[in-house]
Order: sequence, then C-alpha cells, then structure tokens
Amino acid sequence: TLSTEDIALAKSLVPVLKERGKEITSRFYATLFRDHPELLNIFNHSNQRDGLQQQALATSVYEAVANLDNLEAILPVVMHIAYKHRSLGVMPEHYPIVGDYLTKAIQEVLGNIVTPQIVSVWTRAYAIIAKTFIQIERDLYQEGEEQEAGWSGFRRFVVKHKVSEGEGLQALYLEPEDGGPLPYYKPGQYISVRVKIGKYDHLRQYSLIDMPGKSYYRIGVKLEGSEDGIIGTVSSYLHQKIKEGDILEASIPGGVFTLDQSSQRPVALLGAGIGITPLLSMLYTLRTEAPEREVIMAQAVRDGRYHSFAAEIKRLCGESGQVMSTIFYEKPNDEDRRVGGFDREGRIDEGWLREHIPANAEVYICGPRGFMQGIITALLSNGLKAEQLHYEVFGPALSFSVP
Ligand code: HEM
Repeated sequence: TLSTEDIALAKSLVPVLKERGKEITSRFYATLFRDHPELLNIFNHSNQRDGLQQQALATSVYEAVANLDNLEAILPVVMHIAYKHRSLGVMPEHYPIVGDYLTKAIQEVLGNIVTPQIVSVWTRAYAIIAKTFIQIERDLYQEGEEQEAGWSGFRRFVVKHKVSEGEGLQALYLEPEDGGPLPYYKPGQYISVRVKIGKYDHLRQYSLIDMPGKSYYRIGVKLEGSEDGIIGTVSSYLHQKIKEGDILEASIPGGVFTLDQSSQRPVALLGAGIGITPLLSMLYTLRTEAPEREVIMAQAVRDGRYHSFAAEIKRLCGESGQVMSTIFYEKPNDEDRRVGGFDREGRIDEGWLREHIPANAEVYICGPRGFMQGIITALLSNGLKAEQLHYEVFGPALSFSVP
C-alpha cells in the first residue's frame, strides 16, 4: 500500500514523465521487444511505426498514477482498455514484464532524479494499477466463457462472403467454423481478428455491423494507407489475400461504445468514413427494437466512391418516418453531381448540428480523430452536456479524457 506522501511523490514525477514521454516509451518498447519478441504477436506493429501506441500505453499509466487516490474516476476508460486487452489476449503474467521495462526505461532516460525512493514508490503504484486491470480483465474473460455461446481466446471463423462497399472498404461475413451459435453482443461492440502474416500474429479490431443475434458477424475492413505510401499490413492482407472460404480467428465481442437501449431520448448517430460501421449496428437495433425512438443520422464521406452501405442505409432510413438521415459528401465529383446520392456538400458543421441535434439527444460519434474533436467541440458549445456524448476513436485512445 501507499501512504499519502508516497502518492504525492509518485504524482510529482508525472509532469516530467509526460514531458520526456516520447523518449521513455521509445526506449521502453525497444527494450521490451528486444528481450520479449513473443510480445510482437500481440502488439500492433503499425501503431509502433507511427508512434501512437508508444504514447497510449505509457500516457495512460502516468494518468493512472495521477489518479491513484481516485481510480474510480477513470473507471470508464479502464473498462475501455480492459475490453481491448481481453480482445487481444493480454494475460496477468504480462503485467510485471511491462512494469519492469517501463520502470527501467524511466530510470535510464531520467537518470539521477529518479531516486531509489521514487523507484520504490513507482513500482508499488504500478503494481496497484496492474492489479486493478488484472482483476477487471479476469472478470471479463470469465464472463466471456460463461456467456451463452461464448468463448475465451480465439475462435475459428469461415469467411462466407466478401462484399465491396466502395473504394477501399470490404465487408466480411464471418461464420463460426464449428457451426455453433454466436453470443449476443451490444450494438457498437467489436471483435479482434487475428491473422498470421510472416513470422507473427497480427491483431486488429473491427466493429460488428449487423443487428446482434444473427448466425454470422459482419465486419468492415478499410484498406489502410499512409501518406508515405506504407499500406496497412492486416487490411491489405484481408483485402488481397483472404478469399471466401478461408479461415480467420476472432475474439468474443466487447467494448464500451454501446447504444444505451434503456434510454427513450432522441438518438443522433454521427459517422465519418469507416466510423459508420458501429453506428449501423445501432441503427438496425433502433429500427427493430425501439421504433418509436427519434433517430437523427448523419454519414460523412469524401465523395460517392467512398459512400459505403448506401443502399442499406437508405432502405433502413426510408422504411418509416423514424430516421432523419443526411448524407454529407465532402467534395462531390462530377459524377456525384449527375447521380445525386448525397444531401449536403462539405462537412458536418456547427450550424447543421445546432439545427438538427435536439438538446436532449444521446449522441454517438465515430470517425477519425479530427472529425470527432470538431463535432464534440461544436456540440458542447451548442449546450449539450459531456454525458450525452459517446464516442469511439478508431486507433489507440491517447488519453483518459479527450478523444
Ligand atoms: C492498448 C493501457 C498493460 C498490451 C492499450 C491502450 C491503453 C493501454 C490506454 C490503448 C487502448 C485503445 O486502443 O484505445 C495499459 C495500461 C497498462 C497496460 C495502463 C498497465 C497497467 C498492458 C500489458 C500488455 C498490454 C501488460 C501486454 C502485453 C496492449 C496492447 C494494446 C494495448 C497489445 C493494443 C494497442 C496496440 O497493439 O498498439 N493499453 N496497458 N497492455 N495494450 Fe495495454
């Protein structure tokens, strides 16, 4: 246990940890993977490449230390991380390894200012945080196993259908190879898919698209690319190598970005690009199970070539007066102007949000980081409360507070 003075001492280190964060985490991952290459089967190599994961794990450890006397305050984010860890197969025995290498990296980068007393406090602080995670994750693993039709670890799935959903997006329909039923999931949840490429296993998370309760899971895979021409290892493999009939492994669904089905308030679903996938599952659920609930839906895409799930969403929205839907094309091309298929040009902006999102709405937002920051800022300045806003970043969550 830690005394008040210990906690104060641990916290006093947080600002310098953040300031030198990049150096510490680079050192941490380099030494961790040098000595434990087996962990490269769990960690996302692309996140390593662009430095995002380097920030995510370490930053959150510091933030946990800063909240050490009040861990409940960060519980929602702890659950988000714990679900992510379960979907990846993170185990209790991994925690001391990560702790050791993080402590060593801190000592090596910060040098003399890290006194033996600080090391001792820091080590105990990490142990408390790790214990919290391990307990929550143990409960989640157990819950997954005990859930009807559930499993732990990875289950084999057959790729039944592969459907193009516009430029760079393919939907995969996955059926369990054992022919058994699938557990219910909450609309908005995701699975991890595991594929072996070259020497290592690679894991990625994909939101589930359909109504829960089907005999298959449908995921949407966006072909990832970056400006320097590096294409996504896993997404290109799934797009180019995986055929109908092939086997993929997947974790049980999890995640905290889920539709609150107990609420009767109006719902707004705001999605950009691939971020539409979890919202589509929510839309199906609202149409079927809460037909009296008002739904406002906005889908933002670059242009018609990227307009995924168009016919499906149109049908879902058109069947009754329940859903008010608006399709945004950021830069419609000539073909789009001829054919139509969109309602507004440009991005979802503050004016549109003010006009269309009721003050008492529950809002679900999913898309790239910049998109979400813009929408969240606009909605808050329109007077909505933070509790009304639910969001999921595709990519590592970098902080406990801001997306
Ligand atoms: C992801 C925190 C321990 C492996 C994450 C994320 C956070 C985090 C914040 C990003 C979540 C997101 O994607 O939104 C922590 C904390 C830990 C801890 C606070 C210790 C107390 C571990 C351990 C492992 C691990 C022991 C085991 C090897 C991973 C992996 C990811 C992840 C593989 C996915 C991201 C990627 O592959 O780049 N963790 N983590 N973490 N964590 Fe942990």
